[in-house]
Amino acid sequence: MHPLAGTQALVTGASRGIGRAVARALVLAGAEVYAVARGRADLEQLVAELSVAALERSAPGRVHAVVCDLRDAAQVAAMLVPVVAAVSQRHTVLVNNAGVFPLAPIVDTAPETFASTIDSNLVAPFRVLHTLLRPMREAGRGHVVTIGSVADRRTFGGNAAYAASKFGARALHEVLREETSGSGVRATLVAPSATDTPIWDPIDPDHTPGLPPRAAMLRPEDVADAVLWAVTRPAHVNIDEVRLGRA
Ligand SMILES: NC(=O)c1ccc[n+]([C@@H]2O[C@H](COP(=O)([O-])OP(=O)(O)OC[C@H]3O[C@@H](n4cnc5c(N)ncnc54)[C@H](OP(=O)(O)O)[C@@H]3O)[C@@H](O)[C@H]2O)c1
Repeated sequence: MHPLAGTQALVTGASRGIGRAVARALVLAGAEVYAVARGRADLEQLVAELSVAALERSAPGRVHAVVCDLRDAAQVAAMLVPVVAAVSQRHTVLVNNAGVFPLAPIVDTAPETFASTIDSNLVAPFRVLHTLLRPMREAGRGHVVTIGSVADRRTFGGNAAYAASKFGARALHEVLREETSGSGVRATLVAPSATDTPIWDPIDPDHTPGLPPRAAMLRPEDVADAVLWAVTRPAHVNIDEVRLGRA
């Protein structure tokens, strides 16, 4: 009933959108979830909501609010301390999900925006992975899920910073998969197409030509289902990559 009972999971960007749905799915499957984001209020609301949901379903899972800016190395090191300390005793799932989505043609993309997008979407997940991977390898188990995107393989105009970051994140996943094959540590890329989350709020896709309306997008729960499926396969099975699109 609760396939992740006894597991700990760190979900970045858990306060909204896809990360929030992933945190919910993992808690209801029995995991102890460290839910990471910058905004404290949203995280506290998530903890309240998921604590009730877990209780109602008699799920052993629980959730901790972890306020952290993933671009800050010192904050990341501090927030990872309890997770690293438990890796040797508990199966550990890392879901590198947090991300930003600036849309602009190259001529209108400031180099600072390009650099900060790479920092949020590529350097930050690497930083978390870098700290957790060694203890996972020593434990001979663990699972790293990278939330990629349709834009980690396809390019779209107006997408320079995001595409560069997501192509990079896919490459990092593929190197990780090579390096961990046979080690007991698993690695999965979950790559959704457009998904109806607050990431689209500044863009207003329903009134912007060329973008899918929200009603034609995936739901965050669709992506969370794929993550839950990947991390609940038997230990000898690695799901390398899952690509989701609208039917
Ligand atoms: N929505 C889509 O159409 C879509 C499609 C394909 C892939 N994706 C990918 O899916 C992931 C989640 O996207 P989403 O649509 O769910 O986005 P979202 O609704 O905007 O949520 C982003 C989450 O990331 C957190 N976050 C952002 N920067 C952070 C930082 N520096 N430190 C800590 N937390 C940070 C946000 O919380 P705070 O702001 O409070 O920090 C929030 O919890 C991203 O990697 C995105 O590229 C999305």
